[in-house]
Amino acid sequence: MLLVVSSPFILLTPNSQQAQYQLIDFGRGRKLERFDGRLLDRPCPAADGIPQATPKSWYKATHRVVDKRWETNEVEFSSDAEGAATQKVIGEIVDTASPKLAVSRTWCFRWNDLSLSLKTSPFGHVGVFPEQVENWEWLSKLGKKRIRKGSEDAPPTALNLFAYTGGSTLALASAGFAVTHVDASKPSVQWARSNAESSLLSHLPIRWIIDDVRDFVQREARRKNRYDVIVLDPPAFGHGASGKRWELDRDLGSLISDCCSLLADRPIAMLLTGHSPVLSMDYGPLEKPIFKSVSSHFASVDSKRASLIDLKGRELDCGYIFRWFN
Ligand SMILES: C[S@@+](CC[C@H](N)C(=O)[O-])C[C@H]1O[C@@H](n2cnc3c(N)ncnc32)[C@H](O)[C@@H]1O
Repeated sequence: MLLVVSSPFILLTPNSQQAQYQLIDFGRGRKLERFDGRLLDRPCPAADGIPQATPKSWYKATHRVVDKRWETNEVEFSSDAEGAATQKVIGEIVDTASPKLAVSRTWCFRWNDLSLSLKTSPFGHVGVFPEQVENWEWLSKLGKKRIRKGSEDAPPTALNLFAYTGGSTLALASAGFAVTHVDASKPSVQWARSNAESSLLSHLPIRWIIDDVRDFVQREARRKNRYDVIVLDPPAFGHGASGKRWELDRDLGSLISDCCSLLADRPIAMLLTGHSPVLSMDYGPLEKPIFKSVSSHFASVDSKRASLIDLKGRELDCGYIFRWFN
């Protein structure tokens, strides 16, 4: 077993992909980010320390989460029935001193050929976790490596659990995997499907499943279905399709063990990511029985913290990443 110890890595540097995403600043439990022209000020429990940007920079936010709800001073331009230009402020003006920003109606996050739509959603989310870009890159390379070998007639298979709006699903599908996308939330699965359409990938072999991941994985085990790659991005707390509560601390062990029974004889990889502080990032967790059972299927494991870098070069912790691979 090869244990690759990596230093935290930069996913989006201040100089890369500037137009579509930038972490501007963070501190006192909040982060300031630019997404496709919008400036977002939202809570971030990991944002320790003191913000470095001026208060004026923060006032310029076009979208802000206040008391768990989004407020925006974004201005939308459109035309009326006669074709005359009209202008309206969407939502509530949060700070009258802040300049209004004229932006296009559609809002999206682009990566390679993917085009993922963004919108203000519950819990201060927008439909993409930018720190996942590094994982999409890694998943798509796995696909290319496998396909170049040309050893399989059928495409390799991938299972994406807690799949949300489909970034990993689409990275895998565009890399040649037949993907099974599972999420308990119907709106999230619809959002992922529309992301497949906007990325011009809806013709690819993707099964869209609305289900509790635990129920689905157990059913797949009974059907003796097997996967070359399994991806899991579990939240700390959630709900299955029928309202069954998910608690990472309580449920991850049995889910991982059930996932092991779905791995192909010579699996390609398994990826586990998340924001929960429950899994501490010293290498202790790799010694836990649940991780040992995964490691027995793979030659190598890579464990690291995900992070984003702000304009001052400071690193914002974005959770854990475990990658097992052969
Ligand atoms: C937002 S994503 C990724 C969360 C991220 N790793 C974090 O820690 O915030 C979580 C996804 O898991 C889904 N989800 C939560 N509990 C689930 C369950 N029991 N079965 C299937 N999907 C679930 C949610 O609908 C959501 O789309």
